[in-house]
Amino acid sequence: MEIIRTPAEMTAWANQVLADGQTIGLVPTMGFFHAGHLCLMRKAREKADRTVVSLFVNPIQFGVNEDLARYPRDFSRDSQLAEAEGVDVLFAPEAQAMYPPEASTRVIVSGVTEGLCGASRPGHFAGVATVVAKLFHIIKPHCAVFGRKDFQQLTVLERMVADLNWDVEIIGHPIVREEDGLAMSSRNVYLSAQERQTALCLFRAIGHARRRVRTGLVEAKVLLLEVEALLQQEAVTIEYVSLVDQATLQPQAVLRKGTVLAMAIQVGATRLIDNDNLFDD
Ligand code: PAJ
Repeated sequence: MEIIRTPAEMTAWANQVLADGQTIGLVPTMGFFHAGHLCLMRKAREKADRTVVSLFVNPIQFGVNEDLARYPRDFSRDSQLAEAEGVDVLFAPEAQAMYPPEASTRVIVSGVTEGLCGASRPGHFAGVATVVAKLFHIIKPHCAVFGRKDFQQLTVLERMVADLNWDVEIIGHPIVREEDGLAMSSRNVYLSAQERQTALCLFRAIGHARRRVRTGLVEAKVLLLEVEALLQQEAVTIEYVSLVDQATLQPQAVLRKGTVLAMAIQVGATRLIDNDNLFDD
């Protein structure tokens, strides 16, 4: 596996691969890999001839009070894991190379960025859309794989490529969970043993919502109250609990195919998100 540090070298590699008539699959990440990231890499390998994983803790998607400085990092472990997955290139640029001082462009997606996580993280999705747009230009992928764990992020990026007529296939990958149901996240390392147990209320809430939908509940208002009550049994602060349409991210009054339960909570100092498409198998 090659490790590439500069955008210019990355583009030179991509141009060579494209000249050879091969396709490129990209997995954008911020590193500190867990099994979820590795599944995305496997998916990209299935879909394209060559696989690039980007590892870049993108400063512009973090708010001022967020965890940029303490975001977990372990480059040597990450590069070993990516290599073991058969990744061709690990693209790990420096922040100065991605954002030289004169850089002054942001990619702003409106609408789908406004609710859910966008409400409490102003500028976050502009940071995500900007870095992903830059990665697409630098790496020239045919397809890029993103996790449904960050369901709003996936929707925002689908919107971006559709709106900008971008010829990149966006592939959504199901949420990868620990055995007990906790969605895998690089941020789970922040949790104490007790907080780790507390965090399981998100998965219990999903189980509850699925059961209620299966037995015919259609009123979103009722389900929201039940899920909130369930989460409030634990020592967590609810940021939001929403039932939204999977494509528009608009709140739904009536539960129906395509309704997603989306939640963000704070457990101690750690912010966790989870979601589930309630009518999926
Ligand atoms: P990061 O949090 O490192 O996640 C990289 C990719 O892994 C994202 O597409 C995310 O949705 C996916 N992922 C994380 N946990 C997952 C899980 N449990 N199951 C399935 N997929 C999972 O998301 C980002 O980085 C950044 O915002 C990025 C897109 C790289 C832009 O900076």
